[in-house]
Amino acid sequence: MSCLNDFRVKLGGKEYAPLMLGGMGTNISTAELVLALEKLGGIANLSDAMMMEVCDRLFGTTYSIEKAKLNMRFKGQEDKTGLNFNLDHVRDATMRYVQSVMEKATGNGLVLINCMEKLTMNDTLETLKVRLNAALDAGIQGITLSAGLHLSSLRLVSDNPRFREALFGIVVSSRRALNLFLRRTKNLNRLPDYVVVEGPLAGGHLGFGEDWRDYTLGDIVRDVKEYLKSESLDIPVFAAGGIFTGADAVKMMTENGADGVQVATRFTIAQESGLPLNVKKAYLNSKAEDVEVNHASPTGYLMRMLKQSPALQGEMPPNCEPYGYLLNHGKCPYCTQWWERRKDPSIEKTRCCLCTHMKLYNVWTCGANVSRLKEVTQKDANGNWIIPSAESIYNDYLFGTR
Ligand SMILES: Cc1cc2nc3c(=O)[nH]c(=O)nc-3n(C[C@H](O)[C@H](O)[C@H](O)COP(=O)(O)O)c2cc1C
Repeated sequence: MSCLNDFRVKLGGKEYAPLMLGGMGTNISTAELVLALEKLGGIANLSDAMMMEVCDRLFGTTYSIEKAKLNMRFKGQEDKTGLNFNLDHVRDATMRYVQSVMEKATGNGLVLINCMEKLTMNDTLETLKVRLNAALDAGIQGITLSAGLHLSSLRLVSDNPRFREALFGIVVSSRRALNLFLRRTKNLNRLPDYVVVEGPLAGGHLGFGEDWRDYTLGDIVRDVKEYLKSESLDIPVFAAGGIFTGADAVKMMTENGADGVQVATRFTIAQESGLPLNVKKAYLNSKAEDVEVNHASPTGYLMRMLKQSPALQGEMPPNCEPYGYLLNHGKCPYCTQWWERRKDPSIEKTRCCLCTHMKLYNVWTCGANVSRLKEVTQKDANGNWIIPSAESIYNDYLFGTR
């Protein structure tokens, strides 16, 4: 029986084992996790979600305090039009973080960054432009564009000296989304270097509506591969969402034509993952019935998480002044619901203050297979979970045959 390590995928002219770690925000796919895989020759995504808060925690910077001070006058106000992000700070934070990772990379693997395009920061295009260019200027090897898929993103970096040398990938959940992106970028003469097809069993936000159960990852991968072939495009496709073992990965590649897989849930409990130990334990102890797909995210996208997520309990005032990553034209759907509920408490609470809760690791987002983590993890003699290293999970994917 073949194992995943028998296969290779080519990116930027170099061959790699066809396993990519997906970006996990906020700071769950940490520098330590990504670098542990990169050292083994792996492909791994950092996350650029809430970069200023991540820097404050890692480097003792004060971006969020300064942001809160700058925006104090909006506190308690429903309309946050005019609440600003200092784009120099966004750039500084991204540069500082990415540089600190790239300094430690060995060159064996690939360090990418997952850029969540839905982080609008009250000025969608300008902030996206700053984040993308800063990551490139700091030496990131590639950018995975995800969540919201802004059709102009490649144009925002087309003047960057690294535009043709760095890798670009996009996350899509359908042939249609890929087609739209390729049409919009046609005259840039710059194709994506890889495509991640994310199916309905993934963690984080989903690119599907309420009918997500009607789709299967294998079908979408086949459809996307057919489309690429019909356009005579040779772009590697990574299948994501529910690939729990090396055998699942091999099956997805041999039966549906994927060139590789992107995974995340297995690595949430790695020693190097940013999740606190109590959250790793919650993932390990979870049962299948604890997982739900809900409307809690103010992005408007469905999100999969454990029902026990602290973000789903209680309610907190919107914290846009220090965070505000989901603001657009002064509004965020959570703020809107918060103010509506102040006026009419009978309005049902469906949203959470995602920025605050993501920062506090209160959103226990996970793939559909999270309850299977206990099948691939051991307990010690005292009955405590043995938290696996990233290397052991990586090797289990590559060399395991289950
Ligand atoms: C804890 C967690 C956080 C995630 N955060 C992000 C994110 O910030 N951006 C993104 O594009 N995808 C995110 N994802 C999706 C993963 O990158 C990946 O595509 C998907 O979860 C793979 O499926 P699997 O978890 O079943 O292996 C997240 C997934 C998990 C489990």
